[in-house]
Amino acid sequence: MEVVINRDYEQMSKVASQIVVEVVNTKPNAVLGMATGSTPLGLYQELVRLHKEEQLDLSRVTTFNLDEYVGLRMDHPQSYHYFMREHFFQHVNIPRQNINIPSGTTSNYPAFCEWYEQRIAQCGGIDLQILGIGSDGHIAFNEPTSSLSSRTRLKTLSKQTIDDNARFFERREDVPVYAITMGVGTILDARKLVMVASGKAKAKAIAQAVEGPLTSMVTASAIQLHRDATVIVDEQAAAELTMRDYYEFIYAAEPAAPRS
Ligand code: F6R
Repeated sequence: MEVVINRDYEQMSKVASQIVVEVVNTKPNAVLGMATGSTPLGLYQELVRLHKEEQLDLSRVTTFNLDEYVGLRMDHPQSYHYFMREHFFQHVNIPRQNINIPSGTTSNYPAFCEWYEQRIAQCGGIDLQILGIGSDGHIAFNEPTSSLSSRTRLKTLSKQTIDDNARFFERREDVPVYAITMGVGTILDARKLVMVASGKAKAKAIAQAVEGPLTSMVTASAIQLHRDATVIVDEQAAAELTMRDYYEFIYAAEPAAPRS
């Protein structure tokens, strides 16, 4: 695992966007796994800028989002369909038919989840999965005690996640209790993982995920099993890492490491 510590959110977002660009430049028809939440916003803004100002071409890319709230229609302002359209898809040239986001309103969730897994496989698997991390250590909506080999399925949100996400809704009671989410196993099948985290509220979860024991109590710790995972954090999210000097030493020694 590589850990990249950045001075602030903006630099973190730029470093993460460079990894996406490298993947797409190497493989123009790459399959990208997308995350929502507030953390990847800067990364999406940078990709939009690169598309508009520096001819980043995403016309052959296919995307799969990690998760969606159950019960929210696509046009609900807090749905992840809406989030992705507003912040990313409407600003870039990914063909509509190449965009896949779990349905929050299907009439048959198990069948949908199975289809979603099959669709990922039919597209050749995910080349690069973007991840955030919850303050309870979740990846996607794989809450504590989720199986580390889980696949796409319905999941009940933890109290902590409902509290964290209440800021986006008018009332706490409006936060959906269920989500449809890729499993930890689905995520680990991606060929490359990039996790972004910012702010002191994430410091403990990042330290547990990167340096703690592998445990379903912190599903993000499963990235320790991945052969190509990069964790990109800002100063505040790095605050509880004990091996910081080592991560900085490795990064500084990399000839190709992006510097700004
Ligand atoms: C969203 C997702 C979640 C978020 C996490 C952090 O697609 O997968 O795991 O990444 O809840 O959210 P923010 O970035 O809002 O703190």
